[in-house]
Amino acid sequence: MADTESLLDEALQAIEEAADERSLDDLRVLYLGKKGSFTELLKGLGKLAPEDRPAAGESINLAKKQLQGAIEKRKLTLVAAALDAKLGAEKIDVTLPGRRQSAGGLHPITITTERIKKIFMAAGYDVAEGPEIEDEYHNFEALNIPEHHPARAMHDTFYVSPGTVLRTHTSPVQVHVMESGEAPFRMICPGRVYRCDSDLTHTPMFHQVEGLLIDENVSMADLKGTVVEFLRAFFEEDMPVRFRPSYFPFTEPSAEVDMGCVSCGGKGCRICSHTGWLEVMGCGMVHPRVLEMSGVDTNKYSGFAFGMGIERLAMLRYNVSDLRLYFENDVRFLRQFN
Ligand code: PHE
Repeated sequence: MADTESLLDEALQAIEEAADERSLDDLRVLYLGKKGSFTELLKGLGKLAPEDRPAAGESINLAKKQLQGAIEKRKLTLVAAALDAKLGAEKIDVTLPGRRQSAGGLHPITITTERIKKIFMAAGYDVAEGPEIEDEYHNFEALNIPEHHPARAMHDTFYVSPGTVLRTHTSPVQVHVMESGEAPFRMICPGRVYRCDSDLTHTPMFHQVEGLLIDENVSMADLKGTVVEFLRAFFEEDMPVRFRPSYFPFTEPSAEVDMGCVSCGGKGCRICSHTGWLEVMGCGMVHPRVLEMSGVDTNKYSGFAFGMGIERLAMLRYNVSDLRLYFENDVRFLRQFN
């Protein structure tokens, strides 16, 4: 009995002094666990005289109950203290400025495409889209580029399978529209195009906008007016524009369009290779064969087409000298367009 009492005093004292839940649990094991002191005491009962056993057993069990109660109580105190300490340490300063959510922005190529679309839509053009995987007929034959025509080699085509290509220009979209609709047509076709080419000014994938206008009495003068007005609206500058004779299988006559360098104002600089001129698009009167193949009545209708690279226009407008910056997705570059 004396053992039980002094052990109980010792245990209660230790419990009262336990600094955290962990040491409290260690105490529980020490006193009440399978090999704990009180368990040992119970096991020792057998050594007592039989008449002493009940009283001794009862006092041990009482002591155990008391201990359990003390542990529970101490535990509640410790949990509350730990919570207080945590709340104290993690206090939130509600006067600090919040974490801001920065707004995203459009990619410069998207911004440029939207800008081009807006200008042409204001002039009554529709926007047409088509597949990026094309059959050779729509990408080439229907545009008067038969097999073995040297122009095919110029296109550095990616073949998906024999007869199927990644479109090398967005002209096939115009073929689709002409095949399925009725003249007159007035549309632009923006989209991704693919050519096996990669350097400072070429990427294997880039974007084009091509335009097509088919109507009665359309002349080269209409083409010139449209192109000049577009370039001046796009660059917001009254720069000179000139047309140089050129060749495309799908247009006749064909021209390459140059505009006065927006960087030096025509005096000559690195951007325009010291010529004062920048080459910005190809164009021409649609070849009658192309119209016939797509079912347009050439006795009644004629038209013009033009095509330009969106990256090239975006580079000139934003003064970017490496095309690849547009595709590296470095946010430090992209953020500047927000
Ligand atoms: N399809 C031509 C190309 O990608 C561009 C172009 C379109 C030229 C229309 C003339 C007329 O090379």
